[in-house]
Amino acid sequence: MKRILLTLFALLLLAPAMADEGMWLPSLISHRIRDMRAKGFRLTADDIYSINKASMKDAVVLFDGGCTGELVSAEGLLLTNHHCGYDAIQSHSSVEHDYLTHGFWARSRAEELPNKELNVKFLVRMEDVTDRMAAGETADEIVRKAEAEGKGYKAAVEQMYYGNQQFLFLYEQFDDVRLVAAPPSSIGKFGGDTDNWIWPRHTGDFSVFRIYAGPDNKPAAYSPDNVPFRPRRHFTVSTRGVAEGDFTMIYGFPGNTQQYILSDVVKYIAETSDPMKIAIRTGRLDLISRAQESDPALRIHYAAKHASIANAWKKWQGEVLGIKRLGTYEKKLRTEQRFVEATGDGEVLQELKNEFARALPYYYTRELLGETLLTLRYGFTDEEKADPLFAKRRPVEQALYRQAFEEYAGRSTMLAPIAAFEAGIKQHGTPAAYADHIFALAADDPQNPELIALKEAIKEFSAEIVDELGTRSLRNFNSARMNALYARYVEGLRRWAAAEKREGAMFPDANLTLRVAYGKVAGYEYADGEYHTPLTTLDGIIAKDNPAIYDYDIPQALRDLHASKDYGRWGIEVGGRRTVPVCFLATNHTTGGNSGSPILNGRGELVGINFDRTWRSTMSDIQFDPTICRNIAVDIRYVLMVIDRIGGAGYLIDEMTLR
Ligand code: ARG
Ligand code: ASP
Repeated sequence: MKRILLTLFALLLLAPAMADEGMWLPSLISHRIRDMRAKGFRLTADDIYSINKASMKDAVVLFDGGCTGELVSAEGLLLTNHHCGYDAIQSHSSVEHDYLTHGFWARSRAEELPNKELNVKFLVRMEDVTDRMAAGETADEIVRKAEAEGKGYKAAVEQMYYGNQQFLFLYEQFDDVRLVAAPPSSIGKFGGDTDNWIWPRHTGDFSVFRIYAGPDNKPAAYSPDNVPFRPRRHFTVSTRGVAEGDFTMIYGFPGNTQQYILSDVVKYIAETSDPMKIAIRTGRLDLISRAQESDPALRIHYAAKHASIANAWKKWQGEVLGIKRLGTYEKKLRTEQRFVEATGDGEVLQELKNEFARALPYYYTRELLGETLLTLRYGFTDEEKADPLFAKRRPVEQALYRQAFEEYAGRSTMLAPIAAFEAGIKQHGTPAAYADHIFALAADDPQNPELIALKEAIKEFSAEIVDELGTRSLRNFNSARMNALYARYVEGLRRWAAAEKREGAMFPDANLTLRVAYGKVAGYEYADGEYHTPLTTLDGIIAKDNPAIYDYDIPQALRDLHASKDYGRWGIEVGGRRTVPVCFLATNHTTGGNSGSPILNGRGELVGINFDRTWRSTMSDIQFDPTICRNIAVDIRYVLMVIDRIGGAGYLIDEMTLR
């Protein structure tokens, strides 16, 4: 009896800490609604997701296939991140109209800029089709039937719980999405790569778009005759702000998590994969940074490349630290032991482990290739070579070739070597000398047969690995055989959870389908005795401001505003001083793809736009640690202030519903 009580007590203690973990399917959110309401949510499951009436899901979109966006007006106005709209903003930028540097504010609907390759998708509905498929219907048939239901409908059947459940996702896709506004990068990307994944943060990471539709309000290809789309639902914007402890909910499209991997995979990630990728990227970043520091033209040329290499590089460092700190490997090992004791199915685990061991050299080699030989282009275009910048780029590109060749050759892959690559190194003496030779061909003679043969050999080698694994994606370090075993293992985990009344405790791994995560605004203990509060303000921007440092050089208008303190309705009092809120931290479980997601208060009103996590949170893709995992949002009041005071675009705010 005493033991049961103690266990119960332990569970009670654990419960509040565990609770913010999870990315839940909106159509099944009724299972979570009691917990949500206990934490401050005031609405119903039907308000979040309904197929009979307009619900919050009708105001959320998958933006550009990899981010999230939210509707904020009855006329199709949409908010997402600056880094999500970056390609669109860049594509309209030129030396004369440098919207990336100076920002862009359409002064009328006629000035809103169409984008060729940009679309958004609304979820029409999701539906469990496991039974239909068990009865013999194929995914193709289900998709075809669903797409016939409406204009612009796109469907997909996605697996949940590793194939134990199949869901149909039916989307309505709009292809006429126009750029309405973007702050200057010195606001939208304030802090740059230096502050990326960091708290305290001061980035105004937002941009504004508008969805256009045919006169029938249905999806239509771009046409000047299209009209602003009238959504079924848009979010009310709350200007009341947030305080530590407030309920927050995030509604968006998280891309990929790996919550149910083996302890062996955790070990591989923390001890082999991430360290290898970090080390190689450190080398690449050093080369690129040095070039950037040497020349302003090179700084611009390599900016996007540097940002994308550095993003995952920093993320992996946090992941390794987080996994070690929490003892995720040991925890998984214990869970596996308990799984075997509870279910008696030690066989599935053993088979999984065997298959993982078999596949390991293939994963490793594929990852190593992806960081080295597959990053090179094996040929430059005539146009590129005609660019006066090419002469300056040459030594940088050559150094990148050397680095890639040396790194690949210097690490043992346990697989048979790429014959052409091996032969080349032998002939030229060292990987670096061979790299110089291949680089010279790529730069001067891109049709050279030796160059093309090497390129083909690398491609073929990589394809053979994919064949061997029987699957294209390394997302969850899977193989075709592992996938089949995973279905059984995860089903066992679920049944075990149900038997122990931990029902609903297991959420399906993120897979770029719409999810709800909820938690609260919260700071955290960053280091012993060092608590990070969850709100930042304009004063923090001014403190970082430095015209000599590119990432911290803010627009004069922001300095002037701070000097005058003329914040109008956007000003708040913090500790007796007048300022403007900028970013906040919360405990929502998020991942890549959640960028641009709406952060909502208990009444379902928009209080912020999600854009990042702290770097030590990134382990949440594998295991969520409530004491340390935090997502980062830009406060909606800062967004409004910038639109109003920096952009002079108050007419956009007039379109919104403010409360
Ligand atoms: N870390 C964020 C994410 O994973 C933001 C990346 C864009 N910002 C940057 N400075 N590179 O996507
Ligand atoms: N910054 C990420 C994104 O672009 C979000 C994250 O990984 O937290 O989706």
